[in-house]
Amino acid sequence: MPIRKIQNRGTGRLRLMDKKYVWHPFTQMKDYSGSSPLIIARGKGSFIYDTEGNRYIDGVSSLWVNVHGHGKKKIDGAIISQVKKISHSTLLGLSNEPAVRLAEKLVKISPKGLAKVFYSDNGSTAVEIALKISYQYWQQKSKATKKKKKFVCLANAYHGDTIGAVSVGGIKLFHEIYKPMLFTTFKAKSPFCYRCSARETDYKCSLECLNSLESILKKHHGEIAAFIVEPMVQGAAGMIVFPKGFLREARNLCLRHNVLFIADEVAVGFGRTGKMFACEHENVRPDLMALAKGITGGTLPLAATLATDEIYQAFLGEVRETKTFYHGHTYTGNPVACAASIASLEIFEEEKVLKLLQRKIEFLENRLKNFYSLNHVGDIRQCGFMVGIELVENKKTRKPFPVKKTIGHRVILEARKRGVVIRPLGDVIVLMPPLSISVKELETLLEVVFESIKVVTEG
Ligand SMILES: Cc1ncc(COP(=O)(O)O)c(C=O)c1O
Repeated sequence: MPIRKIQNRGTGRLRLMDKKYVWHPFTQMKDYSGSSPLIIARGKGSFIYDTEGNRYIDGVSSLWVNVHGHGKKKIDGAIISQVKKISHSTLLGLSNEPAVRLAEKLVKISPKGLAKVFYSDNGSTAVEIALKISYQYWQQKSKATKKKKKFVCLANAYHGDTIGAVSVGGIKLFHEIYKPMLFTTFKAKSPFCYRCSARETDYKCSLECLNSLESILKKHHGEIAAFIVEPMVQGAAGMIVFPKGFLREARNLCLRHNVLFIADEVAVGFGRTGKMFACEHENVRPDLMALAKGITGGTLPLAATLATDEIYQAFLGEVRETKTFYHGHTYTGNPVACAASIASLEIFEEEKVLKLLQRKIEFLENRLKNFYSLNHVGDIRQCGFMVGIELVENKKTRKPFPVKKTIGHRVILEARKRGVVIRPLGDVIVLMPPLSISVKELETLLEVVFESIKVVTEG
């Protein structure tokens, strides 16, 4: 009891200081300052604990990053042992052991053709790098390709918050205000089956959503450097899962029209969709692939952009030819983060993570079917361990709830009262637990979310 009191006093002060000094991302601070935010003190396995000693299931893997659970001994050990050697040295003109070893590992597990690893430290920079590499590639490849300067992306896309990444994004709420700062892009239709107009009629999907990408590529391929896509699932848009064949066909269209294909695997990579990389679902081999989030098992910031050898070759030449890729962040290839990532990849192998995951994916799929019994669950979208439960005012017409009702936010507050931390995307309830979660913990997570949706939407 006395301990609890001391902890409570500490929490109160931390909350005050938090509100006084910290500006939180994607957060309306006016609301936040009137709330009682959790202050997370520690984590173990699938759980996070606040400063008052309360335990919560980490239902979104601390923003889609955690893979093997919190406090994973092997990763923590790798970090500590690397810190004892050196915490940072630059990759500009020098190298370090973990960065080299990790690059080899990443190339070995990535889709065939990807041969070179360019490090950075977050998903947005990994995307910026892919965009800049593809742009520069065509500039340096030949005189005939110099006009290829533009990008195609999908409506509803999210590729990060830096200006290049926002330029290839398509989420109005996040991106609209920055429009005058952005470079213009071609936006192809998003394959959003739940809100597909073709579905209203006698529905048989023939991937009509691909037509807009095809016509953009047909008409403008001479000026397009690359197409960028979140393979299989548009995450931030509300877990929009692609219909079968969409990714494969999009890849084929790019090949046919001589446009580079950038796979943004930042959210979907490292087992999240049930395969190591989401591109594997449709045997897609990208020209460039952006990785971050789960790359260190959710411990330290690290990112990588992988490229084919063909792309890499276009950057080779005499210094005076200025073909160098003049890009590099200070903490690029940080040895501690790379050591963590190596340990995480070893765990994938040693603990047969992907094999064990399949049973949990099936369990999740079966249990999620029950959610349709709720009056306001319109759509359930799942790809492996990525789930979006869309809540609507009217199931029949698929009419959304009015924004001002903040249904999604209210559901997550209910879940928090019941010991689960999740985060919504509007009125889409997102479930992204660590891949290591046990079936029993998964069951609790689902029960709590079911109950929370029921209380908010039917209560
Ligand atoms: C698909 C995708 N790309 C890029 C990013 C940006 O990553 P970061 O937040 O690490 O910059 C995100 C983040 O959610 C993402 O989901």
